[in-house]
Amino acid sequence: MVAENGTTPTDLVEEKLDQARKILRQNDRGTYTIPARGLYPFQWNWDSCLTALGWATFDEGRAWTEIETLFSAQWDDGMVPHIVFHKEDTGYFPGPDVWATGKSPATSGITQPPVAATCVRQLIETARDKETALEFGARLVPKIAAWHRWFYAARELNNSGLVVSIHPWESGADNSVDWDASLANVPVDEIPPYERRDTEHSVAEHRPTNSDYDKYLTLVHRYSNLGWKQSEIAPVAPFRVADLFVNSLLQRSNIDLQWLVEYVGASHLTEEVDGWVKKGKMGLQSLWSEPQQSFQPYDYAADQSITSISASTFLPLFAHATEPAQTQALVKRLWSWRDHTRYLVPSFDPTDPRFDSKRYWRGPVWAIINWMISDGLTAAGHGDLAKIIADDTRALIDQSGFREYFDPENGQGLGGDCFSWTAAMRLTWLSAQPVEAD
Ligand code: DGY
Repeated sequence: MVAENGTTPTDLVEEKLDQARKILRQNDRGTYTIPARGLYPFQWNWDSCLTALGWATFDEGRAWTEIETLFSAQWDDGMVPHIVFHKEDTGYFPGPDVWATGKSPATSGITQPPVAATCVRQLIETARDKETALEFGARLVPKIAAWHRWFYAARELNNSGLVVSIHPWESGADNSVDWDASLANVPVDEIPPYERRDTEHSVAEHRPTNSDYDKYLTLVHRYSNLGWKQSEIAPVAPFRVADLFVNSLLQRSNIDLQWLVEYVGASHLTEEVDGWVKKGKMGLQSLWSEPQQSFQPYDYAADQSITSISASTFLPLFAHATEPAQTQALVKRLWSWRDHTRYLVPSFDPTDPRFDSKRYWRGPVWAIINWMISDGLTAAGHGDLAKIIADDTRALIDQSGFREYFDPENGQGLGGDCFSWTAAMRLTWLSAQPVEAD
């Protein structure tokens, strides 16, 4: 269909994709991409891997550089840190002086949901230059395996198949309602006075609260006082949660690593990775709550299940870890959430009084989480719902811009603007279908 001004749906799609490419170029710092100017001026772990998927649609070499740069900051013990502070920037808090990890390049001391294997697999599968892809893949596979090995060595408790996060920032979903009770048990220590910088770049009411930040900083100082010795931290961490972001994404990455090991011929890793795949599935299954008909994170510090329901309950679909009856229950829940919000998938249960459509991980929609849920639904044979989620996400981006997150009730764009991973999702997952012209 051609609009009165002569614009076709294909032109509209091209315009959006052009804007997305421009955002990646603007956020490009040569060998890594910042998530967004001002708010996040360094390299973030999962942002980077997911952003590489966007780069790959128009510059495969740049996509590989992104992942290689991230792994150049891998710790000797295998951990891949959540932030790499390649250059100084006083616009972000807490910076390298607060983390005090003593690493070069300077890094934070915690990790983030592991998506490297999943993204590297996708880069290889979609590569036009297969030879280069194989070279990079072969170099990255042992490093990714070292990271997964670290998860099980430093973070698995009681041979459960589950790894714990020691900081809400590790889950990626900083201020999720899921952590409220766990954080309430974290005492606020006497910590040096500090000034937040995030609220200078984004609306304070849409960000975590000051009391959240007091806890976040307390945890950073506690672990820094333990010299960032990871295996000593996990057993005593005041925040110690088996969350569904890290565990689901780790399990999906285990599966994708299995594929990668085979693809690059790293057969010495086969048995070990097979073992992770088995235990990862077992761990996720142990988080299923029959009474709630959902997957629930577990608070190891309090030794109890977390009962609030966030969008992370759908992530075991992405991990291919659900049994048919569980899939049905999750699908039913998603349809019921659709009755409460205009756009799927709110990051928190919209029927719960704690739902907040504008505050970061307490309600808003995130494009990358939608991609994961939609991908999992497609694999589980629910393409109809997967398509609704894709259409909703595309509509949000096209109406409200390449924002960090979106209000699921009115579609308002929130948080950082010109956001790299939102642009990457538009270039990859959402590029296929033309938007419909009025
Ligand atoms: C932040 O600063 O908001 C991040 O989520 C921490 O990584």
